[in-house]
Amino acid sequence: MLGLIFIAAVIHTSSSANVASNTNMTKSLKVLVSSKDFPESGMQVLKEHFTVLQSRYINFGEEGLTKNREELLNLIPGCSALVWVSHHPITKELLDRAGPQLKIVSTVSAGYNHCNVPELKARGIKLSNTPNVLSAAVAEIAVALMLGTARRFTENLEQVRRGEWEIGFDKVLGQDIAGSTVGIIGLGGIGQAVVKRLHGFEVGRFLYTGHREKPEAKDLGAEFVNLDSLLTQSDFIVLAVPLTDETRLMINKTTLAKMKKNAILINVGRGELVDQDALYDALKNKDIYAAGLDVTSPEPLPKDHKLLTLPNIFVLPHIGSATVHTRDSMAVLAAKNVVNALNGKPLLTPVLE
Ligand SMILES: *[C@@H]1O[C@H](CO)[C@@H](O)[C@H](O)[C@H]1NC(C)=O
Ligand SMILES: *[C@@H]1O[C@H](CO)[C@@H](O)[C@H](O)[C@H]1NC(C)=O
Repeated sequence: MLGLIFIAAVIHTSSSANVASNTNMTKSLKVLVSSKDFPESGMQVLKEHFTVLQSRYINFGEEGLTKNREELLNLIPGCSALVWVSHHPITKELLDRAGPQLKIVSTVSAGYNHCNVPELKARGIKLSNTPNVLSAAVAEIAVALMLGTARRFTENLEQVRRGEWEIGFDKVLGQDIAGSTVGIIGLGGIGQAVVKRLHGFEVGRFLYTGHREKPEAKDLGAEFVNLDSLLTQSDFIVLAVPLTDETRLMINKTTLAKMKKNAILINVGRGELVDQDALYDALKNKDIYAAGLDVTSPEPLPKDHKLLTLPNIFVLPHIGSATVHTRDSMAVLAAKNVVNALNGKPLLTPVLE
């Protein structure tokens, strides 16, 4: 992990040097920023080099699908880059409207399941994302959810709000992270950051699963196992994988049934990794102990959704990377990817190149 941070720092510095020393960029190129709430730090990088168009609306929720959609269709013709500040899907219609000079889509997120990769690939459009810079913030939320579920924050907060505290030595007993087995599904940047943060918690064992063993795992003290072993042995199961056809609904009736009765499921990946009906049943029947979700399907989760009626769940509104510092870093990285792409340089964090 230290190695990773070091490499990230080096990339960071050398890329700013590249950007600063290049004088061949032209403001005649147009870049479209898809949402009015893209941070100023990223706007500054873009404005130094390009003519920047920005939507007057946010690219989220209803506004993102209605007014903003119209606005983007009007603004995109002739643009060379699209900075995508949303989890809304990138449509074929929008790409058609852009024209053949569109060279890059830069999504301001680590996940890119919403980016219509096959369509971008077919059109020869590059795609970059913003991994790594958000790993620490998302990992902090994973740990927060572990604590919140293991120590039953939902029920306890409810008691405080009602003014009816349970009393007695055996009141609202929770579970320890100390001595537990923590299983990470997907030991990428976020998964590794979770393990690193938990090292002070005196965890008994770290297990992980994925396509292949990770070289970083040895230093982290994490043991590679298959999915079944992870499911049957872990007290905490942390989902930190991207959403793909393979991972969609990977937590379902069958996989939930393999978990321990005291298992706590944490999801900081994507809501669609989990079959929420099956999760509801497992939590309701106490087949597992609790779930902590930063991501759901859909988002927002309707306030009358059955999952929210359960005491043994802790749900956050997808705030993993939502800190001032992290959002700034994501914006600057997304902007630098655009600068590089339109200047014939390699992307800093490529998905499609
Ligand atoms: C500079 O920009 C022009 C016009 O976009 C381009 O044709 C040329 O290849 C660029 N030169 C370098 C060294 O990047
Ligand atoms: C449940 O998840 C497992 C492992 O992720 C997968 O192999 C299986 O196909 C899934 N079953 C369903 C019904 O989605």
